[in-house]
This record gives sequence, C-alpha cells and structure tokens, in this order.
Amino acid sequence: MEPILEGPVEVRSHLGPDDERSLADDVLDGLTRPLKELPPKHLYDARGSELFDAICELPEYYQTRTERLILEAHAQDIVRRTGAVELVELGSGSATKTRVLLDAMAAAGTLARYIPVDVSATTVHAVAELFADEYPGLSVFGLVADFERHLERLPEPVGPRLVPFLGGTIGNFPPGSRRRFLRSLGKVLGPDGYLLLGTDLVKDPRVIEAAYNDSAGVTAQFNLNVLHVLNRELGADFDVDAFEHVAFFDREREWIEMRLRATQPQHVRIDALDLEIDFAAREELRTEISAKFTLDGLRADLDAAGLELVELFTDPNELFAVSLARVAG
Ligand SMILES: C[S@@+](CC[C@H](N)C(=O)[O-])C[C@H]1O[C@@H](n2cnc3c(N)ncnc32)[C@H](O)[C@@H]1O
Repeated sequence: MEPILEGPVEVRSHLGPDDERSLADDVLDGLTRPLKELPPKHLYDARGSELFDAICELPEYYQTRTERLILEAHAQDIVRRTGAVELVELGSGSATKTRVLLDAMAAAGTLARYIPVDVSATTVHAVAELFADEYPGLSVFGLVADFERHLERLPEPVGPRLVPFLGGTIGNFPPGSRRRFLRSLGKVLGPDGYLLLGTDLVKDPRVIEAAYNDSAGVTAQFNLNVLHVLNRELGADFDVDAFEHVAFFDREREWIEMRLRATQPQHVRIDALDLEIDFAAREELRTEISAKFTLDGLRADLDAAGLELVELFTDPNELFAVSLARVAG
C-alpha cells in the first residue's frame, strides 16, 4: 500500500475494505453466539478513541496515572538497560505516556525512530505528526493496523528495539490467546529487543469496578459507542438509548467484563450482513474483558510465551505493573 505521508513522517494503513469485512465477520460471528460478544478493538473509532482519552483523565481510572508514575521513575533505567534506539508501540492510542520514554531516549542520545501501531487511524496520524514535530530528527513510521494480524508488516529494526504495550491492553485477550499473542511478539522483538508490558493488578474489586463505572458516565458512553459504529459501518439499526452499560469484576476469572444490556426486547437489522438479531429484555452483549494480574500469574504468562522477565516495576500500592521482558535465551 502507498505511504500516505512521506519524509521523516510516514504513515501506512493496512486497514481497508478487507477490514470492513473483518468488522462484518466479527459481528456475524459474535452476535450469533449464545452469549453475544464483540472484540474490544471495535470500540476504538475516532469517537471511541476520544472517549478513551477522557476515561484516562477520570479520578476513578487509576491505571493511566499510576503507569505514568512507574514509567517516570524507571524510564532512564529502562533505556540504559535496553540500549533502545527505536520504539514500536502496540495499541499506541494518543501515546501520552510514551513521551516519558522518548524523553529518556532523547536524553541518552539514542532516539532514532518511533513506530506507533493502532487500529485507530486518527490517533496514529495525530501522534505521528505531533512527535515528528516535537522531537527533531526523529523518524516516525506509523502503522494503522491490527496488531493481531499485521505485525509482519513492521519494518526491520534499525537497532535495539523497545516494544511498549501499555495501558493494560494485554488484559483484553482471554488467557490462551494472551499467551499465543505474547509468543508471537518474539519475532517483533528479535534477539536484541525488549517488551515493556503494562498490566493492571488484582486488587480490591471495589477499586477496579469503580474504574469502569465512573460517576461521570464516560465509560458508559465509550461502551455504547460501539453500537454507533455498527449502525454507521454496517447499516445496523440499534436503538442505542435502549441499551445500558454494565461492568463487573468476575472474581473467579479475575477480569472485568464490560457488557451492554438491552433494557427492553430489541429486534435489530444489520443491512450489510442481511442479518436480523433479537435481544430479549435484559439480554447482554459482552464488549470487553480486561484481565487483572497477580505477579505470579504475570510471570507464568511470560514464561509460557517463551519470554524472560528481566525486571518488574510497580507502584508502592501495587496497583499496576510494568514488566521488561525479552525472548528467553
Ligand atoms: C486500552 S487503550 C490503550 C491506549 C494507550 N496505549 C494507553 O496506554 O493509554 C487500547 C489501544 O489499543 C488499540 N487497539 C485495540 N485493539 C487493537 C488491535 N487489535 N490492533 C491495533 N490496535 C488495537 C486501541 O485503538 C487503543 O488505542
């Protein structure tokens, strides 16, 4: 595919008509199951990405500010240990915390390239242009892509590579796929690369549940937005006002579930799929899981994925963890 921007900033998109197909396939597959379900990546259109940024600023959402504090405390050490010259950031979003790493690399004189990878085209373009502007001499190569399908489209490393996967996004994978995905990162890391993985930790369920049921209702809007995506992209006729946001911590599986609950019986037509779907009153559609980790569970996942934990950083209250890992030798 032709580059959209050229020069020190280049953005390539690997999401095209095939990916409208991918949304259609996910909807056909997910909404015809006994427990209706959609993969969380469809929450992030331009509006969804804006709402996620607003969530990150909420008082209840401790994850972002805690992860930023951990990065601020250890960025220099991370850069020194890894000798990283480039960042390949998975699910980069608006990359607000990434500056902490870029600043540490710039201060160490190693900063050469930044590669944001996200399904949200608006955020990849915005971040690519912003960072190319803010960091003179930085080469930026943005990928609008699905990190589950397009990692082989990454360019060859220009030197030791650090791969931040922040924001607890790894928690969106169920356990088996999580390990498979982490294993697939081995090729992206190569022999000299390091993964920097942000994970939310298991804690008092009231604290976790409050983060997904904020009093301003922003998470509810973020969750409901996926129905707008389906209405717009697939010609569906969901009555968005007839669904409500639900989020609860499943103590057995140690994950948050976000769901949309029909407040009354619904009949929905999805033109692009020529599909009719019924929701019973109070029937729920699962839109996201967000796994919370114990330190032992995290080590076991990395181990099972053929990754070696080099260092684990956390905050004094053990709310969140950032792990530095590499391919096991
Ligand atoms: C929880 S947000 C985290 C954003 C940012 N890294 C942070 O720490 O604040 C998840 C990000 O991953 C992106 N994302 C989700 N699934 C994706 C996929 N399959 N491929 C690429 N990006 C994805 C979303 O668009 C969103 O920007």
